[in-house]
Amino acid sequence: MKIAIIGPGALGCLLAASLTIKLDQSRDVNPALDLWLLDYKPERARYLKENGLILEEGNQKKTCRINATVDPQEIGPADIIILCVKSPQVAAGLQLAAKLVQEDTLLVTLQNGIGHLALLKNRQKLPPIVLGVTAQGANMVAPGHVCHAGDGLTRIGFLKSASFTRSLLLAKVCNLLNYGGIETVIVDNILDYLWSKLLINTGINALTAIHRCPNGRLLESADTKEKLSAAVWEGEAVARALGIELADDPLAITLDVCRKTAQNLSSMLQDVNRKRPTEIDAINGEIAAAGRRLGIPTPVNDALIKKVKEIEQAY
Ligand code: PAF
Repeated sequence: MKIAIIGPGALGCLLAASLTIKLDQSRDVNPALDLWLLDYKPERARYLKENGLILEEGNQKKTCRINATVDPQEIGPADIIILCVKSPQVAAGLQLAAKLVQEDTLLVTLQNGIGHLALLKNRQKLPPIVLGVTAQGANMVAPGHVCHAGDGLTRIGFLKSASFTRSLLLAKVCNLLNYGGIETVIVDNILDYLWSKLLINTGINALTAIHRCPNGRLLESADTKEKLSAAVWEGEAVARALGIELADDPLAITLDVCRKTAQNLSSMLQDVNRKRPTEIDAINGEIAAAGRRLGIPTPVNDALIKKVKEIEQAY
């Protein structure tokens, strides 16, 4: 089975290293995997090909070789494509994905926010989409060196109903990820889970980027806790108006994630620290845009967007 992971960031490297290392240890029960990392930076792809990946978990470091390239033709048609790029790079990632598609390819997308949904709807020449949302925590230490900061459930599911063949392939993807140590389940209401995660990111990411603090610090001041709560409530009002079924209280979940990931630097703070474009449009931006369409005011999210954009402009 040929798997192409697009984007050697933290999540892409975590998946590539976990699958390669853990499946390699159980070659007898698993079919040989032809796993590739597809990058857009030639120098980094060459480095990864020569040096492989390092997976750091606790005080253990494991290494593995990896096929890495910038040329989709070198990979050829893939059975499974996993798009691990951040939301500002989704459009470019989809162009690469289109070059790997064959008749029954499955495209699995794993992004924060919901900005990629509009792009996926408008693309032709793409196979049926599997959306994914993960609670895995991973940070890049250096190119190809990923630190697995925490385990969490990954949920995957089709955006629209799919053929029997593709459903079987999805079950295989789910099995593979589980064998690779990435606990994964298939769900039939993936959009609801995407929104649940969106609301968590809405409350945490922009505020941590603005205040340059780890997630847990947001609970230590009345001001940031109030803003976090208000941002999530605005998002919740929008989600409910759109008919999204939120299983639990989004604010309670967000506060819990803040506590459990107290020492983490959110992905948006990491972007700001490295002066990279953030996912503000795909997270708070989507809440504000949907709020405008629905006539639901989102003043707290609007203010967060403005501040993060100012930070980006000052890079
Ligand atoms: O984007 C992130 O950093 C993560 O999704 C989360 C849950 C906020 C934890 O840091």
